[in-house]
Amino acid sequence: MCGIVGYLGTLEAMPVLFDLLKRLEYRGYDSAGIAIAGNSIRTSKTKGSVDDLVSVTPNVHGNIGIGHTRWATHGRPTSANAHPHCDDARGIAVVHNGIIENYTEIKERLIGRGYEFRSETDTEVLPHLFGEHYCGDLEASVREALSDVRGSYALAAICESEPDKIVVARKGSPLVLGVCGSDFFVASDVAGILKYTRDVIFVEDGEIGVITGDGIRLTTLDGTPVERDVETMDLDPEAAEMSGYEHFMLKEIFEQPAVIRETFSGRVSSGGIDLDLGMDLRDVERIVVLACGTSHNAGLFGRYAIERFSKIPVVVEVASEFRYMNPIIDDRDLVVAITQSGETADTLAAMREAGSRGCKKLGIVNVLGSGMTRECECLFTRAGPEIGVAATKSFTSQLAVLLLLSVALGSDRKVLSTASVNEFVYELRQLGGNIQRVLNDAPAIKECAALFTDADRFLFMGRGANYPIALEGALKLKEISYVPAEGFPAGELKHGPLALISEGVPVIAIATRDTVYDKLLGNIKEVEARGATVVGIASEGDTEITKYVNYVLRIPDTNPLIAPILSSVVLQLFAYYVAYHRGCEIDKPRNLAKSVTVE
Ligand code: M6R
Repeated sequence: MCGIVGYLGTLEAMPVLFDLLKRLEYRGYDSAGIAIAGNSIRTSKTKGSVDDLVSVTPNVHGNIGIGHTRWATHGRPTSANAHPHCDDARGIAVVHNGIIENYTEIKERLIGRGYEFRSETDTEVLPHLFGEHYCGDLEASVREALSDVRGSYALAAICESEPDKIVVARKGSPLVLGVCGSDFFVASDVAGILKYTRDVIFVEDGEIGVITGDGIRLTTLDGTPVERDVETMDLDPEAAEMSGYEHFMLKEIFEQPAVIRETFSGRVSSGGIDLDLGMDLRDVERIVVLACGTSHNAGLFGRYAIERFSKIPVVVEVASEFRYMNPIIDDRDLVVAITQSGETADTLAAMREAGSRGCKKLGIVNVLGSGMTRECECLFTRAGPEIGVAATKSFTSQLAVLLLLSVALGSDRKVLSTASVNEFVYELRQLGGNIQRVLNDAPAIKECAALFTDADRFLFMGRGANYPIALEGALKLKEISYVPAEGFPAGELKHGPLALISEGVPVIAIATRDTVYDKLLGNIKEVEARGATVVGIASEGDTEITKYVNYVLRIPDTNPLIAPILSSVVLQLFAYYVAYHRGCEIDKPRNLAKSVTVE
């Protein structure tokens, strides 16, 4: 969703701000703007892209500025609603992510005192509030004004009377500060500033930061000084670059062998699985998984793995529903929140709701320093920055972590024998290489996808642990190619989806060898008899499948609970190439944002 940037240092601010904004484009946005500090605040904003902003902005000199990419919530995507918003009387400009919940009452009060509003946004109350409290000290006015504000924010403000500083504040929306000698950066996430520095300070909820040429000073909202060391992120600056690939999504699909090795590093060895969890899970009686979107699909897969290996019952809930459910949760439950970004508002809120009922809490998270890491103990997926809006490497690394968790639980509870753990670990250690073998088949998958460029709908089916993979295959395809796609458990075919089958409708069947393989062949027969064109994803060496389907895409033969990871990679490539052949904007699909930080 929206992205915040800021820069203070030795360079011209304008090109740096444009560059930072480009790096946050993947978060999703529909308008953009910047403000540069000087004797006066000079702003430029526009509906459209950062490139559009560059083309309408005259050259402005100055070493301090803020910028924003806006994903419309309150008010349409227009130039007037784009940030920065300003209080002209005091020369204050503000960029903001989040939602000011009580903006209507603040706005009415300010209008009553003669303030004029130029936008439909909630954000515009902030510069006016800061202006109202301003007595020559921007930091003090931000501090006082925020005590009136309800809602969430990550914000950055500059003021023409103090053109040597940026004031930032955070509550509920991510905010990171980068340090590189005398140059300081503000961003919504580390990927935005990785090109400039790996040395960062994460601003925590309820903190205000003041950035000047002398450094960064943090305090809590009530003014108590905060000491926080600069952290050096263990990330390759290349991680947020396209590195010769045509799209981030393709790059991230191809990174998966390395990602899986990183996910397993120090956790999987010939001695078994060691997750180094700082919590005792021996008396957990039930696991409740909370997540949204792709992460929810990972959770559904996790249920099959955890119940199979540890015999602990699992329920999987969509976080946005769970938070309003009055759930029955207590201290015998382990609640696991799965989230790539660690910032999904619904998942964070659901976790807080569950936590208030006294359960144990665990996050499966990709982004270090994100909101979820402040809520609970976390197992990191270690997929590195994921820039493409469509989750790919983060999904397979979530599946991998869920497998590790389920084997660790099963082994602790003596449900799994040492021999079966060793056998599984042996297969797990082949996973990186097996993903590489799937990737080597990309040309064949591309060719197959080309056959369906003009299809007007797709169905994806699987059974058992392949059912969530069918859901994810459908989600991936619809997200980036805009073609309606439905995933369903193949056993449900006759209960509805069969009505969608007519001559030539493509059905993608995940038909890898497992205990329900024969049943799935029966389902393929049912769709084929009604004219569907079937693409089967099948294990190497399975000759039977060719009698049932029109096209076969292969994965290496492996354990039935590891095969879904390989099938996911096939489906990611399939979705990518369908979208590619259709000429879609793959990394930034319409209407979508990378992390959904509002409800
Ligand atoms: O960051 P999270 O994993 O919490 O995000 C959840 C969903 O918004 C996300 O998985 C979304 O469905 C992806 N765009 C799917 O590719």
